[in-house]
Amino acid sequence: MSHHDERTFVMVKPDGVQRGLIGEIVSRFEDRGLKLVGGKFMRIDEALAHEHYGEHEDKPFFDGLVDFITSGPVFAMVWEGADATRQVRAMVGETDPAESAPGTIRGDFGLDLGHNVIHASDHEDEGANEREIDLFFDDEELVDYGLDTAAWVY
Ligand code: PPS
Repeated sequence: MSHHDERTFVMVKPDGVQRGLIGEIVSRFEDRGLKLVGGKFMRIDEALAHEHYGEHEDKPFFDGLVDFITSGPVFAMVWEGADATRQVRAMVGETDPAESAPGTIRGDFGLDLGHNVIHASDHEDEGANEREIDLFFDDEELVDYGLDTAAWVY
């Protein structure tokens, strides 16, 4: 793996899917020069929701968060690139869309904390990206391939 092969987990949440934002969100990461290495349109069951958000089990919003994330299909993805986890988080915005700058995904498409359109691994939580990639994808579902445009991004 070279220095620009960092991988990060990203997911369009049920509200983003219902609002038809999958294509828009994929486009933003493609435009930035990141490389898509995995993608899965799927439903999150109760068990996966508890594993994915386990660290928030004691928070008052936990039950609502599990209900929300299991309420409809999501689009899970793995994106690769230099400093990918931190760069994706910057493109996503703050947890609360109301605090997110215009130009960020949440700042452009959200108004409400519970409905923040997208999840991305926390760059401040070391290992979160690998943990979440492993939770959602088998190794063979991550596709290794050359991307010509990558030669022009770096
Ligand atoms: S914390 O308390 O700072 O650790 O929480 P945070 O990392 O900001 O948020 C954890 C995830 O829970 C979601 N969240 C909420 N959902 C519904 N209602 C409320 N009030 C709420 N607060 C936080 C938040 O979007 C995070 O989900 P992800 O998928 O990681 O964005």
